[in-house]
Amino acid sequence: MSAAVPVAGDPGRGPAVQAMFARIAVGYDRANAIISLGIDRAWRRIAIRELGAAADGDVLDLCAGTMDFSGMLHGRSRSLTALDFCEEMLTLGQGKAPSARRVCADAREMPLADAVFDGCVAGFGIRNVPEPARAVAEALRVLRPGGVLVVVDFFQPTTWLARFLAATYNRIVLPVVGGLVSGDSAAYRYLAESMAAWTDRAGFERMCRDAGFVDVSGRELFPPVASIVIARKPA
Ligand SMILES: C[S@@+](CC[C@H](N)C(=O)[O-])C[C@H]1O[C@@H](n2cnc3c(N)ncnc32)[C@H](O)[C@@H]1O
Repeated sequence: MSAAVPVAGDPGRGPAVQAMFARIAVGYDRANAIISLGIDRAWRRIAIRELGAAADGDVLDLCAGTMDFSGMLHGRSRSLTALDFCEEMLTLGQGKAPSARRVCADAREMPLADAVFDGCVAGFGIRNVPEPARAVAEALRVLRPGGVLVVVDFFQPTTWLARFLAATYNRIVLPVVGGLVSGDSAAYRYLAESMAAWTDRAGFERMCRDAGFVDVSGRELFPPVASIVIARKPA
């Protein structure tokens, strides 16, 4: 029997997403490095810069995967918590930030106390969460007043250049290269489809405002396939 592949946009896709990341976990970092040519590291550095002083405090790495953000913040943040519902991804990442607390849980229902983080960073994860508004509401709950949320993701492209780059990336690079490197082209096809089924950046910014965040802003990164959104919990 072939492994379950999530259907982009399906509100019940959570278990299939979890199983898919468990399947691709081992080759994930290698596939990521090849597919992105290392550009994702530059995007992460920008995201950490946008956290500002919050990066020195208590930070939540949301949908942490193999803990790349945690690894980059390790030794700087007062405390790090990496949350992901895929145990296999977290286990593979633990060496990058050995002192980080690892929490295997759904982003829609975090087993974390209210108002305990200065910053929350979420890389390329929230678009996989069914009911992403619930994850955004949870991020607001666990942040301290004045806390910062920084999200980096592949939103629906809105300019012709971004549409062209996204189409090339989604139809060729992700399924073909991701499939070759990981041996699971169906998983990488889902990742491409999940971008097409996701909101544009303005829609995500609205989601943050609707949840109660303030000072919400966003911009395209370079190259303009990924974008960043920054939001603050009211003080
Ligand atoms: C594409 S990976 C990104 C990982 C990492 N943040 C990075 O920057 O490379 C997306 C991660 O989101 C996690 N994820 C997806 N849906 C989730 C949910 N509902 N709750 C918690 N984690 C989730 C997956 O398990 C996966 O590890």
